[in-house]
Amino acid sequence: MKKLMGLFLIMILAVGVLAACGGAKDSNEGDKKTLVMATSADYAPFEYIESDKSDEIIGFDVDLAKAIAGKLGYEVEIKDMDFGGLIQSLKSGQADFVLAGMTPTEKRKKNVDFSDIYYTAQHMVISKTDSGIATVEDLKGKTVGVQLGSIQEGKAEEINKTVAIKVENRNRIPELIQELKAGRFDAIIIEDTVAKGYLDKESDLTSFTMSDDPEEAGSAIAFPKDSDLTEKFNKELKNMKENGELQELIVKWFGGEN
Ligand code: ARG
Repeated sequence: MKKLMGLFLIMILAVGVLAACGGAKDSNEGDKKTLVMATSADYAPFEYIESDKSDEIIGFDVDLAKAIAGKLGYEVEIKDMDFGGLIQSLKSGQADFVLAGMTPTEKRKKNVDFSDIYYTAQHMVISKTDSGIATVEDLKGKTVGVQLGSIQEGKAEEINKTVAIKVENRNRIPELIQELKAGRFDAIIIEDTVAKGYLDKESDLTSFTMSDDPEEAGSAIAFPKDSDLTEKFNKELKNMKENGELQELIVKWFGGEN
């Protein structure tokens, strides 16, 4: 009898463990399905955490993801990781899509698919006000910080071909700002929209925009190759562009036109 009870207990335990292991991905909560979005939440106003208020990830990309997924009948679960790991998260099936202010470059297109561009941006060089850095030429011999795996890293490598600089990378945008403020970097390259947030609150920082095609740094949604979500999301994105919903989100988070 004791033996039987023991066996019974083990069986109950086993069922419990199995149930707990069921992945979050594509799980059915009620009748709503869930999509996993991967992002790098270091990028206000696209995706960030207002740590003094809550640990929730908020921003333009989060609203856009929830709007599009909602129209398609999905809930969104957000996974935060370093920017450099996002493409891999799609390749390994850890995420269904990436919304992270990511630019659809030719190189990335070899590994993932992209929606149309939903926002355009430009590269900006930020340095301390007293640095005397006002042009790309002024960067000569300087240490320039960029986010690992970003197109700004590519941009810095490109500058290095004509103006010799020392390129340094970090995983997170706030780390770049910290290194700049501490004097370990002479300048950093980030997108204008994200730079604005820092320039507004840090009076000892100055900036200039690199005269580039703004499309060059535009953002799009990334999907695993051949995902059937790409077309569905793109259709909803188009609708939101046409009916003004996208513009509403732009005004909400960026406070202006794009
Ligand atoms: N647009 C740039 C890129 O695709 C930078 C994006 C960085 N995004 C972020 N969430 N940190 O490389």
